[in-house]
Amino acid sequence: MSSSPIIRFKDVHKSFGSHNILKGLTFDVEKGRTLAIMGPSGTGKSVTLRHIVGLLQPDSGLVEVEGHDMAHIPQAEIAEMRTRMGFVFQSGALINWMTVADNLALPLRENTPLSEDEIARRVSEKLDWVHIADAAHKFPSELSGGMKKRVGLARALINDPDIILYDEPNAGLDPEIATAINRVICELTNNLSVTSIVVEHRIPCVKAVADEVIFLDEGRALLRDTPKNFFSSEHPRLVRFLGDQRDIPTTT
Ligand SMILES: Nc1ncnc2c1ncn2[C@@H]1O[C@H](COP(=O)(O)OP(=O)(O)OP(=O)(O)O)[C@@H](O)[C@H]1O
Ligand SMILES: [Mg+2]
Repeated sequence: MSSSPIIRFKDVHKSFGSHNILKGLTFDVEKGRTLAIMGPSGTGKSVTLRHIVGLLQPDSGLVEVEGHDMAHIPQAEIAEMRTRMGFVFQSGALINWMTVADNLALPLRENTPLSEDEIARRVSEKLDWVHIADAAHKFPSELSGGMKKRVGLARALINDPDIILYDEPNAGLDPEIATAINRVICELTNNLSVTSIVVEHRIPCVKAVADEVIFLDEGRALLRDTPKNFFSSEHPRLVRFLGDQRDIPTTT
């Protein structure tokens, strides 16, 4: 028996004014799997992730998370579900007047009965994971873009979530840190109980973490395949998108 999907999009349409972004997007992700989403800038990758956390609702079609129709679920239940989801925002989205440690501790203080000692332990554990233990007492304005990005990742992981959504977790990071972050993401995505979606342009990262990749273009999933098949696909639109990053199939 195949397990039912944790995240399901069925014929999702979404417009902003006259701007049609999603035009019949369909895909699903089963428990413990990692889906990568690739596609041109402005195609709706971040918009797709925002539907999963209930920040946006479809104009038509179905967005289902853990069996809940996200368009018809009470706000209180969305809030409860969000405590089990981690969302690494593309922008970082930190609260500027709180230290890094307080930014990380906030969801635990608000949503859990954990003691301050346990909260401090979890905060330093996550800061260690992303290699910025020394930033705990800094304010976001004192951090570089790459450091903010890593704090955003640590904050998304603070609840040990069941579902993690990464919106370009590596953007703006130098190669050494990007590799370290990839390692963290790999460890998390290889955990069979965590379901993940990774929006990512870096092909080595997609190959390292994803079970499947979809190519989002013109508001639809044009292609869905394993990373191996995806990066050697002959689909003309994907060939154009990947350019010289594409794997040329060898004939030997
Ligand atoms: N809240 C909103 N109101 C109006 N337009 C929006 C809103 N959110 C997104 N858009 C528009 O939807 C389109 C898709 O945006 P989205 O951020 O999902 O792109 P993306 O695929 O993530 O691109 P990138 O790779 O550059 O991050 C863009 O044209 C954007 O301007
Ligand atoms: Mg985006």
